[in-house]
Amino acid sequence: MGKTKVYNDYFFDEPIFDLHDGGYKPLEVADVPEKPLNVPELLKPDKVEGNDVYYTLTAQEGETQILPGKKTKTWGYSASILGKTIVYKKGVHYHVHLVNKLPEVTTFHWHGLNVTGPIVDGGPHAPVYPGGSRDIDFTLDQQAQTDWLHAHPCPNTARQVWNGLAAAVVVTDDEEAKLPFPRNYGVDDIPVILQDRSYHDNQLDYKADYDMDGTLGKYALVNGTINGVFDVTTQRVRLRILNGSNRREWRLHFDDNHEFTQIASDGGTLPEPVHFTKLMLTCAERAEVIVDFGDKKPGDVVTLMTDNIPVMKFKIGEYKREDVELPEHMATIPTPKPTPGTQIVHTVMSGMDDQVRLDGKLFDMQRIDKKQKIGDTVIWDVTNTNDMDKGMIHPFHMHGNQFLVLSRNGKDVYPNEHGWKDVVGVNAGETVRLAVRFTKFGIYMYHCHILEHEDTGMMAQIEAYDPNKKHEFHLISMDEMMHPSK
Ligand code: C2O
Ligand code: CU
Ligand code: CU
Repeated sequence: MGKTKVYNDYFFDEPIFDLHDGGYKPLEVADVPEKPLNVPELLKPDKVEGNDVYYTLTAQEGETQILPGKKTKTWGYSASILGKTIVYKKGVHYHVHLVNKLPEVTTFHWHGLNVTGPIVDGGPHAPVYPGGSRDIDFTLDQQAQTDWLHAHPCPNTARQVWNGLAAAVVVTDDEEAKLPFPRNYGVDDIPVILQDRSYHDNQLDYKADYDMDGTLGKYALVNGTINGVFDVTTQRVRLRILNGSNRREWRLHFDDNHEFTQIASDGGTLPEPVHFTKLMLTCAERAEVIVDFGDKKPGDVVTLMTDNIPVMKFKIGEYKREDVELPEHMATIPTPKPTPGTQIVHTVMSGMDDQVRLDGKLFDMQRIDKKQKIGDTVIWDVTNTNDMDKGMIHPFHMHGNQFLVLSRNGKDVYPNEHGWKDVVGVNAGETVRLAVRFTKFGIYMYHCHILEHEDTGMMAQIEAYDPNKKHEFHLISMDEMMHPSK
């Protein structure tokens, strides 16, 4: 290990960390007893017929023991909170029956999945009304990665996610299966869904906590658990970390400064492992990391922190010694070449509070903001015009593709941004250059992933078109999304 480079900073511009804004609420230490970490169960298929797998997912109300005393009313996907973890394998044809047992309209958005928009993708054009259902099917044709499912009925996305509608999606494939990564779900491979919530007499109250610049909670939760403890029974543990918060950035590190290694970003395996002691994730970003507890002995406890607040604990048990060196080269990422004749696309995230805009506009479900030909590789320059001292990072997300990050203000990208991504945190005053390629024709959203910014309208949509296929998209209005037309 002697010569491997270990990074010791969060990469992002420190003056713009979301700590300085008037509306910022720091996390507080939760004075509640420790509990075993909730590891969501795997969603079981209804049936498997050759290469066809059938699932049912129900958006439902439930109750969860989060704090001592009264249970909290929460929402989840086939679970009382968050959701069962959904596993998809590359090449398999999936049929998913989406059921809405909530008292209001919702949608099922597959964040990170390269599926057709706007219906299968599950954005605002694909409402499922209360008591109703929708059937989608698609062939999973992307590489192994950690994605997620969340509600997307803008302008109610933020509240529905706050109530609990977010689940981990694990994509597997044969390439990743060859790499020496832990992959025994629940044992040495777990989702770590990071969220923050406040409680009022043990209940959520989105309105009471609402902030236009992103709602912040008082306590840190992992998979819906406050002060969760995970029993480590293997030397190495793979954490599929997802920032599932409405607004909060997570600046992760261990209390003993333990080193950890990122192996994958949003869109899958990184070209090489990135070793560090600090990791910052903006909203909706994922990082798969491996923590090697080989220097710990049974009984030791290691605490994962964000800033100065404990997030969860790892309690080391008996484990079999297994020293594994990760290969230097893990995946091949192409060097993107813009398709000749294509122009650079400029897109601008501006403002804060009620002034947030994307390209100067608010979202309109029936307006197509940009078009791009499928198969083309196009350079996108995404700018955040906020001030360095008064602004914030806007995490830029696109549906329907995984992009590559080429530069930040003309300089190198962060060391853990050399793989595929679908969210990129854009610092105030910065332009991030992306290489964007769509492979499936359809309508896709792109937006800031601070959920309240998105709900306000810091979002737009692009048509990825196939010049050889005529296709008319019926774009419903917000009114139609909210109420079924008769
Ligand atoms: Cu995570 Cu438009 O979504
Ligand atoms: Cu998305
Ligand atoms: Cu924003």
